[in-house]
Amino acid sequence: MSRADDFERQGFLVLPDFVPAASCDALKARAEALVEGFQPETVSIFTTHEQTRTSDEYFLSSGDQIRFFFEEGAFRPDGSLRQAKALSLNKIGHALHDLDPLFSEFSRTPALAALSAELGLRQPLLLQSMYIFKQPHIGGEVNSHQDSTFLYTDPPTCLGFWFALEDATLENGCLWALPGGHRVGLKKRFVRAPGGGTAFRVLDATPVPEEGFVPLEVKKGTLVVLHGLLPHKSGPNTSPKSRHAYSVHLIDGAASYPLDNWLHRSAQMPPRGF
Ligand code: FE2
Repeated sequence: MSRADDFERQGFLVLPDFVPAASCDALKARAEALVEGFQPETVSIFTTHEQTRTSDEYFLSSGDQIRFFFEEGAFRPDGSLRQAKALSLNKIGHALHDLDPLFSEFSRTPALAALSAELGLRQPLLLQSMYIFKQPHIGGEVNSHQDSTFLYTDPPTCLGFWFALEDATLENGCLWALPGGHRVGLKKRFVRAPGGGTAFRVLDATPVPEEGFVPLEVKKGTLVVLHGLLPHKSGPNTSPKSRHAYSVHLIDGAASYPLDNWLHRSAQMPPRGF
């Protein structure tokens, strides 16, 4: 059975040894350097009374930037970090793949271009990327969702490439996926609210099944491919080991990209292909 058949049937693929360990290590080192250069003082305002508005703005304008997002509970009430900056971050997003040469190289390989074509993208555009830390002990869980909720096109074309940069296990919060769940239809969209901020717009109120998810425990270097409509989630990291991952999400340039999507790219930096 071909990769495309498998993907069509279950809505995800697990491809071990897709990336050499050395490339995973290089990406981790690069993320570490970016964190090193990041001055949290610039976002300490998060802990003031303007928290919501300011963090919304920092997030909403991050579509074509490299920005740093903290774990919930990273700060003390006085605004100082509870632990070292490098152990307090939830993720970096959302244009690493365009702004950082090493992330670009990692995200734009012939193997990935071939895979995206095989899985049906005609005009692949690398829209969004995230470096996910899933920190030891404090890495939070991610609730069940469909990536097309956040990266919507009409019709839905989102395709996710999720790279394990470290072994992902039940203990450190591996992915869980619902086999065949990509056929349930898109449940909601995450949009810019007319009055500012963001909102979920419900498209179909029938709930996604809560049963039937399978854990994807994978080794470092594994690529997990996720259909944009596939419900998936990840548990909290209850272990002393981190679970670093990098994800890049593609859309098909042949589909339309609504302006009320939360993620905006400036006209000077439209999403590019491979
Ligand atoms: Fe996701």
